[in-house]
Amino acid sequence: MPDRILRAMARPTIDHRGPEFAKLTHEVLEGLKQVFRTSGTVVIYPSSGTGAWEAALVNTLSPGDKILMFETGYFATLWQNMAMKLGLDVDFVPGDWRRGVDPFVVEEKLSQDRSHSIKAVMIVHNETSTGVTSHVTEVRNAIDRSQHPALLMVDTISSLASIDYRHDEWGVDVTVGCSQKGLMLPPGLGLNAISDKALKASKSARLPKSYWDWEGMIKDNKSGFFPYTPATNLLYGLRESIRMLSEEGLENVFARHHRLGEATRRAVRSWGLEILCLNPEEYSNSLTAVLMPDGYNADELRELILKKFNMSLGTGLGKLKGKIFRIGHLGDFNELMLAGTLSGIEMGLALANVPFSKGGVTEALDYLSKHQ
Ligand SMILES: Cc1ncc(COP(=O)(O)O)c(C=O)c1O
Repeated sequence: MPDRILRAMARPTIDHRGPEFAKLTHEVLEGLKQVFRTSGTVVIYPSSGTGAWEAALVNTLSPGDKILMFETGYFATLWQNMAMKLGLDVDFVPGDWRRGVDPFVVEEKLSQDRSHSIKAVMIVHNETSTGVTSHVTEVRNAIDRSQHPALLMVDTISSLASIDYRHDEWGVDVTVGCSQKGLMLPPGLGLNAISDKALKASKSARLPKSYWDWEGMIKDNKSGFFPYTPATNLLYGLRESIRMLSEEGLENVFARHHRLGEATRRAVRSWGLEILCLNPEEYSNSLTAVLMPDGYNADELRELILKKFNMSLGTGLGKLKGKIFRIGHLGDFNELMLAGTLSGIEMGLALANVPFSKGGVTEALDYLSKHQ
């Protein structure tokens, strides 16, 4: 987290029913619209990302509704589990956790659904568990080609403010986001960006909801307030985060993430290790998941690097446990931070006696010095 954000949050908590608070609410809601690239509605919950997932479902759908989801990784699987617990009928297209959503399957499934029983297509834009980024525009085009009215809902938890994303232009109905990744904040804010079509769907949706109900939230937000106590100090941090993103410019933020992601991938390839994501068109600019050579445990390597160099790499989640480690390169991150990260990994690989070729760091530095 940037010091600017930490300092912005270290202030007294003001009365959340007073005039100063209303100004803060209006400013962060307007600012978030720029980040989501929408002129529509945005809501902020005092919650983690999982809460924002639930809000997307319970506000738009009814018990027994059919929805289409894709097994792109651990988080897509968790969102599907939630949908099932809520009583939705999920068509969960299986996947190998190494590729993104296949738009042809979207088109095929929707074209076959002549009675329009599928109410929503739900995808995870950037699978944090695998480092694979799905192409939202291609999914949108597939829905349009099949002339199907299903809502499109997208989880941008690890892509928002890191990888190009456009809620309005890409025709997304509900975008799910949260605070602790590209927005460079602590955990604690869950976000929904909502299209007019999703708002309309919410008028007849029958899944039970109370805390997550958009209606009360949107009504109170109009005058700058919340239906319950908001996470005031996180909103100070959010205001600062939006200022920082707008000073840098979102295009530059995306370009920086691309540069750092590409340098990381060059280092991994130069080490002779395998990137989990199979399709270069779907490489994630937020993180890179790296497969360990057979017979070597990723968590042992992670533990050694944590102990020796005080650096925590991401663990493999679910069925990838022990098989991969994940290098995060999102948020408040720059060339020299990446150089330190990659150096820690290169030293760790040597200390753990993992078979690899030296020189990944040099490869990354060469790339970074030529691409500024
Ligand atoms: C893509 C994705 N979706 C959903 C979640 C769940 O968010 P949270 O852990 O904030 O509830 C995460 C968490 O890392 C995530 O990476």
